[in-house]
Amino acid sequence: MNILKQISLKLRFIRLERFIASLIYTFQRDWADRQYHSSQKVQPLTTPGRLLTVEKTSQGAQFSFEKAQVEIEFLSPELVRVNWQPGLAPVPYGIVQQDWPEVDLQLQDTEQGKIIRSDRLKVIVKPEGGIEFQDANGRVLRQELPPQRRGEAWQQEALLRSPEQIYGLGERAAPFNLRASQNPRYQMWHYDAGGKYGPGSDPLYLCIPVYMGLHDNGSYLVFYENSFSATFTLGDSAIAAFAGGALRYYMIAAEPAKAIALYTQLTGRPPLPPRWAFGYHQSRWGYETEEAVRETAQGFQKHNLPLSAIHLDIDCKDNFRSFTIDPDRFPKLREFNQEMAEEGVNMVAIVNPGVKRDRRSQLYREGVSQDIFCKLPNGNIVHAPVWPGMSAFPDFTHPLARHWWSRQYEYLLDMGIAGFWHDMNDPGVFALWGDATLPKATQHFMEGRGGIHLEAHNIYGLQQARAGYEALRDSRPSRRPFIVSRSGWAGLQRYAWTWTGDIETSWGGLGQTLPTVLGMGLSGIPYTGPDIGGFKGNPSAELYLRWFQLSTFLPFCRTHSANNVKPRTPWGYGLHVLDCVRSLLQLRYQLIPYFYTLAWEATHQGYPPVRPLFWSEPENSELWGMDDAFFLGDGLLVYPIVKDKVRSRLAVFPQGQWYKFTDDTIIEGSQRLRLEVPLEEIPLFVKAGTVLPMEQGEHLTLHLYPPTEGNSRGFLYSDAGDGYGESRLDQIHLERTPEGLAIAWESQGDYPFPYSSVELQIHGMAVQQVWMDGTEVEFQQPQEQPRTAMRIAPGVSISGDKFKRVQIQGEFRQPDPSSSFNPRQSYPTNGL
Ligand code: NOJ
Repeated sequence: MNILKQISLKLRFIRLERFIASLIYTFQRDWADRQYHSSQKVQPLTTPGRLLTVEKTSQGAQFSFEKAQVEIEFLSPELVRVNWQPGLAPVPYGIVQQDWPEVDLQLQDTEQGKIIRSDRLKVIVKPEGGIEFQDANGRVLRQELPPQRRGEAWQQEALLRSPEQIYGLGERAAPFNLRASQNPRYQMWHYDAGGKYGPGSDPLYLCIPVYMGLHDNGSYLVFYENSFSATFTLGDSAIAAFAGGALRYYMIAAEPAKAIALYTQLTGRPPLPPRWAFGYHQSRWGYETEEAVRETAQGFQKHNLPLSAIHLDIDCKDNFRSFTIDPDRFPKLREFNQEMAEEGVNMVAIVNPGVKRDRRSQLYREGVSQDIFCKLPNGNIVHAPVWPGMSAFPDFTHPLARHWWSRQYEYLLDMGIAGFWHDMNDPGVFALWGDATLPKATQHFMEGRGGIHLEAHNIYGLQQARAGYEALRDSRPSRRPFIVSRSGWAGLQRYAWTWTGDIETSWGGLGQTLPTVLGMGLSGIPYTGPDIGGFKGNPSAELYLRWFQLSTFLPFCRTHSANNVKPRTPWGYGLHVLDCVRSLLQLRYQLIPYFYTLAWEATHQGYPPVRPLFWSEPENSELWGMDDAFFLGDGLLVYPIVKDKVRSRLAVFPQGQWYKFTDDTIIEGSQRLRLEVPLEEIPLFVKAGTVLPMEQGEHLTLHLYPPTEGNSRGFLYSDAGDGYGESRLDQIHLERTPEGLAIAWESQGDYPFPYSSVELQIHGMAVQQVWMDGTEVEFQQPQEQPRTAMRIAPGVSISGDKFKRVQIQGEFRQPDPSSSFNPRQSYPTNGL
């Protein structure tokens, strides 16, 4: 029997087996939910009652009400922890920083209520338990009504101002401003969107109870440290209703960038990923054999397309079992991985949490004997169907289970697997109706305090990512872990990247990508991106290209697709698309120093590389709801096209001056313009004042865009690209002087400068004379280059090598009149 026949027979059998297993499990789950988790009797709502006493504590104050207490602690002048009791205290899975320096505080008794304040933030606790937050100037940032409690479950309502925007809540298929949805009700319960989802689907795989509010008085961020299932309703007020646990939350009163910096100080900053992770990743559910993967990699070589990683989906496994490889279809994986590594391709393997119930399997037997699988209250292991069949699920809230799980990666690491892809860890299982996950009463260790799935569900993937991260760090201490995890919670950024799951193949799916990525960034998750082209379906050439264009500028740039669609590679859509994708990928790889410097920034400040337009201008309400454009770092402004056959679009420009990337047209900011957008291009602009590092092999070009006035500076972070050795930070300062432009270069760190030649390209200036470290040097006028999509406009070029100061005498170009702003459109095109 040939291999294809064998596979198709196996698949048919698996389908039937899976159906029966799902049917049985669904009944079992319903039984368990009824038996152990029947919805409790409706209990009356209680409020805290009247304020009785106030006691100052070292970091704030403790307020006692008739039926509740609240402790307010200032962790920094802008960040307070509010802890309502009674209620089950959370296991601090989301939090990394517990000790904070003392803050200077004052406690005042006023007619408004008791005020406790730092020099940045005033917290007013009202006599009935309402809390108001004001900035140092007395402007109201947030008003909370007295919280309510029904049985074990807390609910909190905060009034929203009419123009107030709300962003975040983790991964959402909603407008970026979550209030703008037609149905602004969001579930906090990770959910396997089951093959495809589109705009409006809720919930998805990675919910986080954190949101940013932005309005005319300022901005703030609230994080509820409560992983219980919850519902957030955003109407005239924001209502957060939890199914259990204490009402503990953190309120940060600060502008967006500072709020994210503080939030990630609290929940953790992302470690530096290996540099290759910013290259292009190719993936497909359906690489049935080693040979199929090799052919794909060869296709990239043949078509002169760079490639950094290939992801192996469940097809590589032995009957879909975790930590196995099918020996028939991937017979020489170690040698194969080595071969790929020599070509610069890193292999990433999928890992699912379910462990196949099979007494012959050592993994399963060990899990049983070490008692690390999740159980029902009656002591029975929960078995639920996933890809390998009925499976048990490690309880990642148990340190022993994490440790045991961590050891399993060694086999694949030893085979040369470079990174891991955690899928199905929402956790998702196969059920024919209802909630496709473990029963709500499933028991979890929760670091010894005990708990049920209703609380542990949302942190399951986070703790699996922790185990995976620790595995990679411990087994391969000289390399940085690379994990992509479908699910997670607050703090996932400490361990893993993520992707936006099984988004549908449609223009709506493409349109959803950016709002989702932006919302994740404001939820502390910096590294994400979509399945280019959507998961299930065959995108048209135009849809694929537009999706590729957007993803070129997102941190995680990966094509992935379902097993029942056509193979999706850049050469599958004709020569013209292939040329366009090649030029996008060439640009992406040239920009890797910029991405990598943004990663260094994320590690130090927590800033997401993809930022909303209001990031540096939060007071400009025109930018608030914009979810069809974004900043990559502070320097690049991207206006993706997410509609079919569209060849022009409206662009709102933030303040400053903007250089069109491909032809250096200068646009005055704070205005709206219609951009002409040929299919080959994604509109891309560079902010005046930017230093844009671009590399080609060992050659570095620093593109310098003079500031409109005064100074600006740019960074370039470099190191070996992996491991934990030396690093260096190069800082380039630009200063607009009466004569022209002064450039100064400063370096820190012991890592040797990684480029053998450096060139400066000055944009927006007619250059007359140049001095480098006091000596006059030659320069070259911009070299006209053949027009291809997405190539940077060349500037006046100076060979820079390493210098300390450069003086440029010359004249600055003025912004081009908007009316004449129409990019040239002369591509050698044969259409689609
Ligand atoms: C679901 C994931 O979301 C998808 O990316 C993957 O291809 C399938 N599981 C199969 O492993």
